[in-house]
Amino acid sequence: MSLMSGERTFRLGVLGSGKGSNFVAIADACSAGTVPAEVAVVLSDVENALILERARERGLSARFIPPGKFRTKLDETAEAAYIAALREARVDLVVLAGFMRILKGEFLRTFAQRVVNIHPALLPSFPGLEAWKQALDYGVKVTGVTVHFVDQGIDTGPILAQQTVPVLAGDTPATLHARIQEAERALYPAAIAALARGDVKVQGRQTVWETPSSKLQAPNTR
Ligand code: GAR
Repeated sequence: MSLMSGERTFRLGVLGSGKGSNFVAIADACSAGTVPAEVAVVLSDVENALILERARERGLSARFIPPGKFRTKLDETAEAAYIAALREARVDLVVLAGFMRILKGEFLRTFAQRVVNIHPALLPSFPGLEAWKQALDYGVKVTGVTVHFVDQGIDTGPILAQQTVPVLAGDTPATLHARIQEAERALYPAAIAALARGDVKVQGRQTVWETPSSKLQAPNTR
């Protein structure tokens, strides 16, 4: 699969529910030209989420779209509204950046193999919520970050890139999450850059990176 969009700039639709540190890393990398893409729209299910403020500060289109009646997913009306907003913005890739709702059926059919997520652990370990806390509680010495395509499962789609992060003596959930987020801010832009360039192909569960020496290396092979 190639996600290249010809001569037109590759367009990102970013969905987030929180602080937006991943969004900032991606938007700034787009502005700096290290990610050959532009953020076309930012959407949030949380009206006062910092991610919306950070997008507006950068002059980007940012909208709160109410999620509807469920706690962990979008209801049918909300799902249709998210799809419409992303279509209107003509996005090539949907980037989940701390979006805390599960996306399903119609959304994933509309953007088949065009939705990516960042997860704060080395999948398939510790899927779901507060993965850094799960890792700490389990007692692992190494955890990390995973960028993956989103499929119908929870954190189960084909893996694009992974980066290890050590768990250090004395770590608290907050210190470990901060170290993980630092890794996220490097890994996510690198993975999106590769997708924007059409450098990644999906073959079943495998993602295959083409890494000519002139181009960025797959983060998990550095
Ligand atoms: C990130 O650490 C991301 O990995 C996590 O939410 C945080 C969002 O931070 N996502 C998940 O846990 C998804 N299951 P941000 O709003 O500062 O980018």
